Amino acid sequence: MDVIPLGPGFVAELRAVTLADVASDDAAYAAARAAFEEHSVLVLRDQEVTDEIQLAFSLRFGPPEVTKVGSQGTGSHFVILSTIGPDGKVVPADHRMAMRAKANQLWHTDSSFKRVPALTSILSARVIPAQGGETEFASTRLAFERLDAGTRRQLQNSFAWHDYAHSRGQIVPGLASPEERTALPPQCWRMVWTNPVNGRGALYIASHAYAVEGMDAAAGKKLIDELTTAATAPGTTYLHGWRKGDVVLWDNRATMHRGRPWPAHEARLMIRTTISATGVDGVGDMRPPFWQAAE
Ligand code: OGA
Ligand code: MN
Repeated sequence: MDVIPLGPGFVAELRAVTLADVASDDAAYAAARAAFEEHSVLVLRDQEVTDEIQLAFSLRFGPPEVTKVGSQGTGSHFVILSTIGPDGKVVPADHRMAMRAKANQLWHTDSSFKRVPALTSILSARVIPAQGGETEFASTRLAFERLDAGTRRQLQNSFAWHDYAHSRGQIVPGLASPEERTALPPQCWRMVWTNPVNGRGALYIASHAYAVEGMDAAAGKKLIDELTTAATAPGTTYLHGWRKGDVVLWDNRATMHRGRPWPAHEARLMIRTTISATGVDGVGDMRPPFWQAAE
């Protein structure tokens, strides 16, 4: 396996390896996992992708999420990001499916609004629009390391609240359904996630984060917005233009991402698998001291 750095200080392409190699071979997984810890975003190209192969590859990294209520693929291990309606036609721009695609165009990290956050998301492109529809990544690890020591220390001991309804509400008020709100109560996480393998901290924020514990609402929101703007500054991001056979996985502990727009009349279909973070991924250090899980 060759690891070729692609981006501005993060992101690498894995060459001479297939999804099936990683799924079936311990040494291939160990090398891919080491590259994941170091580079945060991994790109594999020219893959033969089926749902089964994508899931087998993903399962190497940990336990799979079950897709939440209100998302396409609910109850399975797949999230279907699609603007193709049940009749096979592209839905209109004001359709709920198109609105949800729009919400994915806010800078975010996956599943920070869940009781168990995500280690990694694995995304494959199945139908690609002729223009646009890229996915853009920012390193919240490098962003954290750009801050001064005092701010870093302060953030390591700060906690932010994350809520799915908040990020969806930025697109259209009420885009999150009552069912989704009930299933997904707000979660509180440390604002810095320290990687247990290399000890490097990363900002854990983004579009689902709406408040900072102990700060007044406006000041907390302003801090989250300023950190997000700094973390995604021009010249620091990696833009992935999708080709057939591409698979990209990212470390949700150390990156943010967003979808980029594409012409509304063109179809786009992406399939995501998502792996939950566990103790070895450092999730145990992420709750505030006052937190007592309801369950
Ligand atoms: C995701 C996501 C963006 C895109 O799959 O989690 O945010 O470009 N995707 O589809
Ligand atoms: Mn996402």
